[in-house]
This record gives sequence, structure tokens and C-alpha cells, in this order.
Amino acid sequence: MAETTETGLPKGFRGAEQGWPELHRIPHPPHRLPLLGDVLGVDRRRPLQDSLRLGRRLGPIFRRRAFGNEFVFLWGARLAADMADESRFAKHVGLGVANLRPVAGDGLFTAYNHEPNWQLAHDVLAPGFSREAMEGYHGMMLAVAGRLTGHWDRELAAGRAVDVPGDMTKLTLETIARTGFGHDFGSFERERPHPFVTAMVGTLTYAQRLNSVPVPLVPLLLRGASRRNAADIAHLNRTVDDLVADRRRSGGGDGDLLDRMLETAHPRTGERLSDQNVRKQVITFLVAGHETTSGALSFALHYLARHPEVAARARAEVDRVWGDTPQPGYDQVAKLRYVRRVLDESLRLWPTAPAFAREARQDTVLAGEHPMRRGAWALVLTPMLHRDPEVWGEDAERFDPDRFDAKAVRARPAHTFKPFGTGARACIGRQFALHEATLVLGLLLRRYELRPDPDYRLRVTERLTVIPEGLRLHLERRTAPARAAAPVTVPDDGSGSAARCPVHRPAD
Ligand code: HEM
Repeated sequence: MAETTETGLPKGFRGAEQGWPELHRIPHPPHRLPLLGDVLGVDRRRPLQDSLRLGRRLGPIFRRRAFGNEFVFLWGARLAADMADESRFAKHVGLGVANLRPVAGDGLFTAYNHEPNWQLAHDVLAPGFSREAMEGYHGMMLAVAGRLTGHWDRELAAGRAVDVPGDMTKLTLETIARTGFGHDFGSFERERPHPFVTAMVGTLTYAQRLNSVPVPLVPLLLRGASRRNAADIAHLNRTVDDLVADRRRSGGGDGDLLDRMLETAHPRTGERLSDQNVRKQVITFLVAGHETTSGALSFALHYLARHPEVAARARAEVDRVWGDTPQPGYDQVAKLRYVRRVLDESLRLWPTAPAFAREARQDTVLAGEHPMRRGAWALVLTPMLHRDPEVWGEDAERFDPDRFDAKAVRARPAHTFKPFGTGARACIGRQFALHEATLVLGLLLRRYELRPDPDYRLRVTERLTVIPEGLRLHLERRTAPARAAAPVTVPDDGSGSAARCPVHRPAD
């Protein structure tokens, strides 16, 4: 159960009626029912895609009411750009994010802005995402990718199609577990998902379900689910406690995130993360660090399989840049400019963390049009922001990686592409995810031709993140030289200085 206030609402929740004095000017769906609100035709398993549909009908800002609570959604590029103004707006921990507090507490992702552990953990952990640290992870990422290609080679030899989201989830979980915590879940060697993954998916799904049930009815309607959720959280905690205990016993790792959490003091204050907070951070990184990247890779592979001309161009780039080097180096990944555009374009259409919430730091007027009181908040719907025809053109639904060539990017207004959120609370793992995903796409393109199932129609599963449902691809081994990614020696991770934030740039 999420932390709640005396009104039974998630802590930090402010209804739109209190926050938006001119709420009546914001459209809502027709056929609003007394008490229940805008529930007619709602798909409880796909609340995001429902909101996208409504956004298309109702325009760049709209509201929805469910069981007495009103929420404001927006996606218009002008409105979203204004919300990116850090002097007037900040991250809002509400809805799905607040529901994760019982599992992730004041970990980086779910911390309230005022909680001191956010700044402490950010300063201690940000060097773990610097360029130098990334170079240190590269060899481990290659080694995990080698396990994926080993598995795909076996599937291919057996004449089976590969389970793209399932295998990408194994890959990204193993990558963050290995690079962050020196841990191996053995995902590729298992028949069924690792129990940690099952517990994690369970708790994410539960967090999403909480949004579709009136808070006072949760004990009644979700009794069984709440019990299972408590068991899931207990499992996640146990797994992490074992992992930390192992590390303490072994006396240190190779300078990974866990070492930083356990050993690094804040460069200015000398403060350290408490044991309780380390647990929350480890869960946060294992959760935040894999589902999103797994979805991004899965969507990219879907689009590559559907657009053979794009795949051919990307593959030609990989062959040109990597030649027949068996193990591409760190710098050779950043040179895959077109592959990166494929990834960006996939994240444009399906940003895998598909919304983020922003709240007003003080009374203000959004984009000169909508007065907001301090604390009022709205959910920015990134898949719609990324399809705003005023920015992306009338063909915004079309997959076209050239939208991300340097000239096109320069010509677009700021804050119109936000798959990693915005401002101080934007994704700390952005470079990590982009490096991992570009590397893996490069390796897969070099090794295989991707053949889609002609009957497959993209369906999207939601559990706070989005992922293609049931996506399977047939593979063919390429005839061109493409050597396997074999495990390589892991270089030192080179800890950087925490004096300035190495992950966030002013434009974030
Ligand atoms: C394609 C992959 C990824 C996407 C699309 C993504 C997206 C996001 C977004 C939108 C936010 C901001 C959420 C908000 O404002 O409420 C965020 C925050 C965060 N992400 Fe990611 N993420 C990705 C990969 C990763 C990875 C690989 C890691 C860790 C290794 C990570 C760790 C985090 C953390 C810790 C935060 C909270 C940052 C803070 O508030 O200080 N993410 N991510």
C-alpha cells in the first residue's frame, strides 16, 4: 500500500481542483458520470494508451476524473517546454511514482524533492555515470551481450523465433546487475524468469493497478493483490540484502555502483548513505535500470525488422565503423551515429517511461495561459509530445530516423524530445542506457538479419513502462563477416570526482 495522507490519497497528492483555479477551461472527455468520473470506455490495463487516445481528441492539455480525483495531462510542445523551466517547476512524485514508495522509498527515482537523501545519493552516485565510469562498464556490457548472442545462436540453430522483449529484459537486467553490483542472476541459463524479475514485474503492475482503484476501496478490491505485493517487496528486499551482505563479506568489488554506495562519502559533507537507503537505491537501480532499456531495444528491433531499408543502412554503418574487429571499443559505439538515430526515433514514438509529472514551485501561469497554484501538477505525456504535429510534422506517426540527423535536431525547438525526463531529476542512467542499447543494436545488426512475423501487429503492454507485447522475430545468420562478442577483460572503472554533476547538462 502506498504511503497515504489522512485523506487516504497518496502522500504528495493534490487534486487539480485545488491547484488549477481555471480548471473549467481545460477540456475533459464527454459523458462524465457523477461520482465515477471519466470511466466510460476506459481500458484499465492500458491507462496510458487511453490517455493518448483522449489527448488526440481533446488537444494539448486536458483533464480526466476518476473516482473524485481530477488529473491534468498535457502534451503540447509549448506547454511541455514551459514546464521544463526549472526555476518555476520541479519533478512531482505522484500517481505511479508515489505508488512505488513502499518498495523504493527515498531512493533516487521516488524521493521527494525536499528529502535530503536525494541530493546526497545524487552527488555520491553521479560519478558512477561519468564517461570514465561508462568506459569501465563497456567490457561488462560486451560480455553480457555475448550471452545474448549465444542464446540467439542456439534459438536460430533450433529453428525457433526469438522472444524479443523477454530476451532484452534478461540482457538489461544482467547488464545493470553486473555493472552496478557485480551480480549475476543467470537469466540466460534459466527456463523461467528469475524470481527477482517476477517480483519486480508484480510490484510494478500492482503500482499501476493502484491508480485505477479508489483509495478507500484498495483493502477490499485488491486484498489478494496487496498480499502478493507485500511478498514481492519482501523478495526484492531479501535479494538485495543478500547481495549487499555478499559484498561486505568479500570486502569490496571493482569500484561499481554498490562500492560507491557503501564506501563513498559525500565530497563536501562527508556524509554516507545509510544501510536502509542503500537497499532502496539498489532496488531503484535494478528496477529503473533495466525495464526501460529493455523496452527501448525491443521497440528499436521491431522497427528495424519492419523497415529493412533502415536496417540495411544501420548495418552498413556498423560494418564500416567496426570493420571486422571482434570486440568494438568504447569509442566505436559513439561513432554509430545512424544506429543511435534509430534508437532515438524508437524512443520518440515509444518513450519507454512514457510520462513524467511536474509541479509548480510557486503560483505561476503555465505558458501564459493556465494559472497554477504552488504545488499544482500535471502529467507530461511524452509519446504525444513526441508526436505533436507542430514540431514533428503531419507525418509524426511515421518511423524515420533521419528526424535525428544533426541538422534536423538543431532546427527543432528545445525540450521537444524528452524520453529521459527533464531538469535535475532527469534520468541519471541516460548515457548508460544509450551506450548499452547502441552497442547491442550494433552487435545484433552485424550478426543477424531480422525477419518479422508478417501477421504481428504492434501491441503495447503497460506496467509503468511500456514494452511491445508478444514480439517475436525470426533470425538469419548474416553471411558477411560477423564475429561473436566474447567476454573480454574488464578494465578499471576509474572513479571520477563529484565536484560537478557529470551526468546532467544545462540543456536537460
Ligand atoms: C531507455 C532507457 C531509460 C529511459 C527511457 C529512462 C527514463 C527516465 C525518466 C523519464 C526519468 C525521469 C522520471 C521522472 O521525472 O519522474 C528517469 C529517471 C531515472 N532513471 Fe532512467 N531511464 C532509462 C534508463 C535508466 C538506466 C539504465 C538507469 C540506471 C542505470 C536509470 C536510472 C534512473 C534513475 C535513478 C532515475 C531517477 C533520477 C533522479 O530523480 O535523480 N534509468 N529515467
